[in-house]
Amino acid sequence: MAMAMAGLNAISCSTVSKFLFAYSLLFVVFFLPAFTSASNTLLPGEPLHDGSTIVSLGRIFELGFFSPGSSTGRYVGIWYHNFSTFTVLWVANRESPVPDRSGSFAIAADGNLVVLDGRNGVLWSSNASSLSPNASTAEILDTGNFVLNNSGKVAWQSFDNPGNTYLPGMKIGLDLVTNVNQVFTSWRSEDDPSPGNFTLGMAPDMSTQIFIWENGKPRWRSGRWNGQVFIGIQDMVPTYIYGFKLSDFAREKKMYFYYTEFNSSHRYVLGPDGVERHLILNDDAQGWHQYWAQPILECEIYNRCGNYATCSDKGNSSECRCLKGFVPQSTPEWLAGNRTGGCVRRMPLQCERSNGSATGVGGKPDGFYLMQGVKLPDFSDWVAGSNNDSQCRNTCMKNCSCRAYSYIEGMGCFIWGRELADIHLFSSSGNDMYLRLAGSEFNDDKGLAGYAIAVIAVSAVVLLVGCVFLLWKCKRRMEAFFRRKMNRQENLVDRSGSVGHPSTTFYAENDIHEQGKSDVPLFNFRIIEEATTNFSPSNLLGEGGFGPVYKGVLPEGQEIAVKRLSQSSGQGMEEFKNEVILIAKLQHRNLVRLLGFCIQREDKILVYEYMPNRSLDAFLFDQSRKHLLNWKTRISIIEGIARGLLYLHRDSRLRVIHRDLKASNILLDEEMNPKISDFGMARIFGSDGNESTTKRVVGTYGYMSPEYAMQGLFSVKSDVYSFGVLLIEIVSGIRNSTYNHPQLSLNLLAYAWKLWNEDDVMELVDPCIRDKCSIREVSRCIIVGLLCIQDRANDRPTMSSVMLMLESENCVHPMPRQPTFAGEMSQSETDSTSFDQKLISANASITILTGR
Ligand SMILES: *[C@@H]1O[C@H](CO)[C@@H](O)[C@H](O)[C@H]1NC(C)=O
Ligand SMILES: *[C@@H]1O[C@H](CO)[C@@H](O)[C@H](O)[C@H]1NC(C)=O
Ligand SMILES: *[C@@H]1O[C@H](CO)[C@@H](O)[C@H](O)[C@H]1NC(C)=O
Ligand SMILES: *[C@@H]1O[C@H](CO)[C@@H](O)[C@H](O)[C@H]1NC(C)=O
Ligand SMILES: *[C@@H]1O[C@H](CO)[C@@H](O)[C@H](O)[C@H]1NC(C)=O
Ligand SMILES: *[C@@H]1O[C@H](CO)[C@@H](O)[C@H](O)[C@H]1NC(C)=O
Ligand SMILES: *[C@@H]1O[C@H](CO)[C@@H](O)[C@H](O)[C@H]1NC(C)=O
Repeated sequence: MAMAMAGLNAISCSTVSKFLFAYSLLFVVFFLPAFTSASNTLLPGEPLHDGSTIVSLGRIFELGFFSPGSSTGRYVGIWYHNFSTFTVLWVANRESPVPDRSGSFAIAADGNLVVLDGRNGVLWSSNASSLSPNASTAEILDTGNFVLNNSGKVAWQSFDNPGNTYLPGMKIGLDLVTNVNQVFTSWRSEDDPSPGNFTLGMAPDMSTQIFIWENGKPRWRSGRWNGQVFIGIQDMVPTYIYGFKLSDFAREKKMYFYYTEFNSSHRYVLGPDGVERHLILNDDAQGWHQYWAQPILECEIYNRCGNYATCSDKGNSSECRCLKGFVPQSTPEWLAGNRTGGCVRRMPLQCERSNGSATGVGGKPDGFYLMQGVKLPDFSDWVAGSNNDSQCRNTCMKNCSCRAYSYIEGMGCFIWGRELADIHLFSSSGNDMYLRLAGSEFNDDKGLAGYAIAVIAVSAVVLLVGCVFLLWKCKRRMEAFFRRKMNRQENLVDRSGSVGHPSTTFYAENDIHEQGKSDVPLFNFRIIEEATTNFSPSNLLGEGGFGPVYKGVLPEGQEIAVKRLSQSSGQGMEEFKNEVILIAKLQHRNLVRLLGFCIQREDKILVYEYMPNRSLDAFLFDQSRKHLLNWKTRISIIEGIARGLLYLHRDSRLRVIHRDLKASNILLDEEMNPKISDFGMARIFGSDGNESTTKRVVGTYGYMSPEYAMQGLFSVKSDVYSFGVLLIEIVSGIRNSTYNHPQLSLNLLAYAWKLWNEDDVMELVDPCIRDKCSIREVSRCIIVGLLCIQDRANDRPTMSSVMLMLESENCVHPMPRQPTFAGEMSQSETDSTSFDQKLISANASITILTGR
């Protein structure tokens, strides 16, 4: 017992002394640099010896000698001062460490920075040319930049000579004049800062993508920048509140990403494993959390499955499949897991068989197959002047080398004229792409069709037996029923819903009636076919988000619009039910009216009242038709939309958030009255109107509020935001987000803000109506618009205040706050056009096709 006590005593004694010793050491370690690093500047003739450091004025960054990991070599580097984990951001002598602690860092006689070993041998030099001797000083800044000044000019800086870390404030990228592409280079390992196998930089073809290369070969690709996120990074949440942006490359002649404000909370590191990590400082400022990292999944590796194949994530591994209509180039190699050959087309395209002419000899014309939720393939060309899906489709159809197209709202039309490489099927989000296939690829599902026929035959027999049984059971009632039915001739709208329909119809319809207690009429498929002459292309009105819309005429002469939800659209049924159930309960003169629906096997059809003037965007953004919307009409359209929205938010039985308000969803009747349409995304909310969240962020970039785009939070105030954007579009006749602008930011809103601040609101008004409107009304509208697009949902007015402000002559209104979400202003359009011309001649891949 006593021995044990003594032992314990001994232990605690030695622990204490060890602790004291460690403490004094610590003291020395922390104290010494503090003493020797009073400065943030390196002067000629005062070299920095191993053991001392210099620290930036705000005490954020520190420069000195260090040894990474288990290495014993000494390197000059920059790290965070006073940070719990030692994090190196930049290294000078990456390839030539000082072998011992006798090294120094100095300004040499020629004015350059040098790392010297113990015998004054030069291990590294900043190599700047034409310096004046004895005129250099060097300084570590609070941005983490180490700058060599010579005769008052920046002669060299670490931000122009990147290592493996991107820090806010850097402008590393592609120089469009010299064609020099600056890249980041990974370390060889955690212990060795010499250049590793991985580099990271801007795509040299100016496609606004970021690449990681391994020994010069692509290893990862971010996808294009859409102004807020890289569309090839799954579920990437925008950080533009902190201002991550693409440079105004047309003006600066340099393409790079940057932060509008310096923010030392962010860094991006290319690890020795070839993974790029975006790290953000924790709230306690003592650690980092990973915001995103790429590539992690197998499918994120560039072209993992080869050309014309998709890669889907299967837990930690991946599954490769040829695209529809494609087969492995070499089946044995494919089965052995060798994807280098990729897949090849099974049936040649008709335009290829007919030697390039689109209207070929015989055979079915080529068609497009919809692929959803994809990381769009590499090598896309942007097409100017294609402003909707069907124009984009036409561009692709007319050009035999076009293999696929994708129309992205807010970015525009992209076509692929080369092999389709690096297609990752996302498990959520992603884009739609239409793949061009020979016409014969679209009806080769014989096995499936046979199966379907068998199922239908069996259900018919079951139904028949059931009917016979019923007939026998209640013969008289049925006889009476049929007699009545025969007498009534052919019934247009069949409300009975249970007799004489194929079983599929019966169930789906039942489903809808049950869920919504809806009393929307059910249309007979045959009637719809007749009304639209078999969905003839000549009756096509346009292409909505979920399928084509046709014009039709019912036998009695009523004109209708028929939306046929595309069969391949997997999400169709959910949106379909949603729309039928919702809209049936909503009745307002500014909402489009649903006349009925129809379900026939795969076909899901919605029947609306016909709007002769189609949608608002067809007028507003069309040079030849925009003058038809005079100022009075525009005001009444704005007020109509506001009334419709107020009804949805406050006055309807359900209280609905629309979630996808935009110009193409506003239809116009013969008197130009606006009607809100497309309730596929709408949600009913509780009476408290609280914010809800959704994992699936749907909607349209440019109209999405910051909280919705970034966090999936939606509330009535997200609709208010979209309304504000729409209002400014209606006044200005400019689309909020088009890809036309080199900066790709949401410039219309920032432009509106700028003009309002400069008291120059008339400048924002569409030039074709500018001389016929009153400045009072214009100002009132623009203020309401600016109030609606404020960053914080709470700052935005409700729709009832919006109505008040729009209608009253002298209403007091709060001052709008500047929308930071909207992005920065950029230089005039004319500059960019002339520059784009130069880009074409410079053989860039942003193809500008202007011809019709
Ligand atoms: C500086 O120039 C020398 C000789 O031209 C070269 O060997 C060295 O790699 C250069 N150093 C840097 C940091 O560019
Ligand atoms: C630079 O300074 C050193 C030391 O002060 C001096 O010896 C040398 O002559 C100066 N050189 C020039 C070009 O002024
Ligand atoms: C870099 O690539 C080369 C060639 O592919 C390879 O031999 C070497 O092991 C790689 N180095 C590292 C650190 O991965
Ligand atoms: C810097 O970034 C952090 C984290 O992303 C953010 O909370 C902070 O507001 C940003 N600071 C500035 C000045 O933008
Ligand atoms: C993979 O297949 C290609 C042809 O598709 C062949 O040239 C290559 O040698 C194969 N690689 C391996 C490792 O088998
Ligand atoms: C296609 O055109 C090429 C030359 O343009 C010609 O040599 C070839 O015979 C044509 N093929 C067919 C099937 O018409
Ligand atoms: C067809 O598309 C390719 C690929 O985008 C493009 O290079 C070519 O110029 C287009 N041809 C025509 C006639 O537009």
